[in-house]
Amino acid sequence: MTMDKLKMHSPDMSQENIAKLRDLFPGCMTEARDDVTGRRRLAVDFDQLRQELSDHIVEGPQERYRLEWPGKREALLLANSPIAKTFRPVRKGSLDFDGTHNILINGDNLDALKLLQETMLGKIKMIYIDPPYNTGSDFIYNDDFSDSVDGYLIKSNQRDEDGSKLTANTEANGRFHSDWLTMIYARLKLARNLLADDGVIFASISDEESANLKRLLDEVFGEENFIDTIAVEMSTTSGPKTVNAQQGTIVKNVEFVHVFRKGSAFDKIRHVPLLDGITSFDTHYSAWMDEDGALEALSEKLLGDSEVGSDIERYGLLNRGKFSINNIDKLLAVSDSARLFIDSNLDRIARIDRPPVSAAGNRTEVGRWKLFNVDHRSYYLTTLANGTLQALMPLSLNYRMSDDYKPRFGRTVIRGDLWKGFHQDMGNVAKEGGVAFANGKKPVRLIKQLMKWANNTNGGIVLDFFAGSGTTAHAVLEANAEDGLNRKFILVQLDERPDKKSDAAKEGYETIADLSAERIRRAGKAILEGDCHRDWDRDVGFRLLKVDTSNMQDVYYRADQVVQSDLLAAVDNIKSDRSAEDLLFQVLVDWGVDITLPVQRETVEGKTVFFVDGNALVACFDTGVTEKLVRELASREPLRVVFRDNGFISDPVKINVEQVFRQVSPGTDVKSI
Ligand SMILES: C[S@@+](CC[C@H](N)C(=O)[O-])C[C@H]1O[C@@H](n2cnc3c(N)ncnc32)[C@H](O)[C@@H]1O
Repeated sequence: MTMDKLKMHSPDMSQENIAKLRDLFPGCMTEARDDVTGRRRLAVDFDQLRQELSDHIVEGPQERYRLEWPGKREALLLANSPIAKTFRPVRKGSLDFDGTHNILINGDNLDALKLLQETMLGKIKMIYIDPPYNTGSDFIYNDDFSDSVDGYLIKSNQRDEDGSKLTANTEANGRFHSDWLTMIYARLKLARNLLADDGVIFASISDEESANLKRLLDEVFGEENFIDTIAVEMSTTSGPKTVNAQQGTIVKNVEFVHVFRKGSAFDKIRHVPLLDGITSFDTHYSAWMDEDGALEALSEKLLGDSEVGSDIERYGLLNRGKFSINNIDKLLAVSDSARLFIDSNLDRIARIDRPPVSAAGNRTEVGRWKLFNVDHRSYYLTTLANGTLQALMPLSLNYRMSDDYKPRFGRTVIRGDLWKGFHQDMGNVAKEGGVAFANGKKPVRLIKQLMKWANNTNGGIVLDFFAGSGTTAHAVLEANAEDGLNRKFILVQLDERPDKKSDAAKEGYETIADLSAERIRRAGKAILEGDCHRDWDRDVGFRLLKVDTSNMQDVYYRADQVVQSDLLAAVDNIKSDRSAEDLLFQVLVDWGVDITLPVQRETVEGKTVFFVDGNALVACFDTGVTEKLVRELASREPLRVVFRDNGFISDPVKINVEQVFRQVSPGTDVKSI
């Protein structure tokens, strides 16, 4: 038993009074920060309270329907402010750096989303995010406004002992919900720009912020683009939950996924329905189509089969010598022969339905069936004793492979927004991908099925900017191996250190980003060892990019503000520790060239030259560039070419570059840095 602690201070009467008011008027409460302790405390929304106590409209701040919190305007400013940062390629941590089209970004996702603005603008088909849920024990990134906007709203720069900008967001924080909203709002605003017109975003969330996130997504994506909120069954009432449930608690079984489209173009894509297996037998399927064209009752056919018939008798399912189809579920539960009988006669068992209008003119003998060809489609038709024409729908049309945890071929129903059975995946999730990650690892099947329904077209890019253990990358690779669509992934993960006591730390991962990378490696290897769709390009690699300060001294990056020539005029402004490849990636980002394109490095005239996707961009950052090299590169007719401004062997060579390209390759855009 733990002892209650003495408070050692007099009661806070105002808080007690406010608590009494809260019981009467819960809608009049708001949150505030205590000036002395800095902790979160309850506060009264006096305007709202005056309104509650008044029989006329109380004058006050203008009413509007919207989600407000302190910091919202800061968040907008944050989303729009420029940063002096870039992506630096990390070859060593990458897998198939030159050939892959997948990207793993190590750094704060706010920076990453800003840097992706041009190169990925409107290119992402699907975003999946699983942000910290704000459960009271989460760490959230403390965005430092002074980082981006000089002199603006300098927030206290709370860093922990390791210098990390992650701070624990406990409920005691006076801006508990507000800080979380500020964090997620700026990121969602930026993410939306990246979505293709027919793109979709899925956001996982739990009770704590589900309502806020939904309202925020409504605001960022537009209410009209809300598709649904999926309830995912993540646990059952078992173990310790049973005790709580027995005591009357409504225990938690579900989490949510809010689904928003970018716009109406998303509806034009064919979505693949997901199927849940069902065990009960649909008794509408009560007819038997004999091979010789006679129509019989399935119940009689079952009874007539020697093995099934004896099971019917043995299990007491016979009533006055007859078997009723209403007892078929009982029979199937006990009789292997009955199950086998059904499974091997799917084309013979049918339900009787109305025929299509176009078939109306056809006739069969009463009690017999026949195959007709109507408007290039085949229909089984029969005529009932009362003379009406009917169609027969074989049970085989209703049998599909289900999308369950253990997929099976059988009767299915199309899944709606209740996604049951993921608690089974959760039982095994710790092992998925072969890495230990205790901070909300999601089942691969969940993300894979979101992807399957969204039906990303061939080559579609999937973005997850709260990557965690990298489940989204794993899901992309598995889905590709199954359906042969060559989706690509972009993942962003902060180089946050795992909790010292966690298995991840014990297994030696210095950062969560290292763990994500390792998982992708392991998942890719395992998938390649299994069955792979022949149309899949087998790209299991990833290009590791690290968010870092700009390669240039004192240069701000913001695509819409910085005139290229400003950047390019920054002669000798390159930091000494930056490599040619670092420069190449900053050029790709600045120029808005796709950073997933393959890069080839060649030595031409003794100099290192990068060829991005053949001739999308050609770059040489060496010094001593001669006219011969310039001419050689021009002869390859690249779309873009870039040199180091002070990289030419002489001034005349530099002066001549544009002219050489005008003559040899007039379509080339020529720049220097
Ligand atoms: C709930 S976990 C995601 C789990 C993931 N879906 C999985 O299956 O493993 C959220 C992740 O977002 C990361 N994160 C939080 N703030 C971030 C930020 N500002 N930039 C990048 N990553 C961040 C955390 O480090 C954590 O790994």
